[in-house]
Amino acid sequence: MLWLHPVIQLLATMMAFYVLFLAWQKVKILHLGQKGKFEWRKHVFWGRIIIIVWFGGLVLGRVAVHSHWDMSPLFLTHSQGAMIMVPFMLIAYVTGSVMDRKRQKRFWLPVVHGVNNIIMLGLALYQFYTGYFIVVNFIL
Ligand code: HEM
Ligand code: HEM
Repeated sequence: MLWLHPVIQLLATMMAFYVLFLAWQKVKILHLGQKGKFEWRKHVFWGRIIIIVWFGGLVLGRVAVHSHWDMSPLFLTHSQGAMIMVPFMLIAYVTGSVMDRKRQKRFWLPVVHGVNNIIMLGLALYQFYTGYFIVVNFIL
């Protein structure tokens, strides 16, 4: 049970780099005036999966800590990182869905979405850093 959360969150975090890599094509077209092929459907599909898994994983982490150590939150920096990630995940999902529902030429919404999601990915890396500490000190 204790391994489930770290494994799925790590997989989702690695997958997020793939989604960012797909988005790089759009950045090239929209901001750098270069040619590129943005795989829209793949980006949206995997982007959604990542947000849903991160969110489900957050709840799972809480439940795991609560049932194993009888209290939650216990790991403060990791828990705070998760709480900060929540609004970024919401913004990622909502802005992405708005752009997906009605395709049109846009500038600012993709920028807000892109910047928000790069910060969110940075937070996920911080979660990896603090989560790795939990694995080494409390699980292994
Ligand atoms: C990326 C790699 C990650 C690793 C290695 C990791 C590791 C861990 C570990 C070992 C625990 C203790 C419970 C358990 O083992 O199930 C935990 C708890 C938790 N994790 Fe993660 N985690 C990661 C990512 C995330 C992310 C992305 C989020 C939020 C979106 C998150 C949110 C939480 C929360 C809320 C808890 C409960 C903390 C508490 O109640 O004190 N984790 N994590
Ligand atoms: C890990 C998650 C995600 C990352 C890192 C990410 C990153 C990005 C980036 C950097 C761009 C380019 C923005 C620009 O050119 O200024 C982009 C575009 C886009 N993203 Fe995401 N995204 C993620 C999740 C999502 C989700 C969940 C959705 C849909 C629900 C989505 C839908 C879109 C769409 C439709 C565009 C193209 C917008 C346009 O240019 O009109 N993304 N994304």
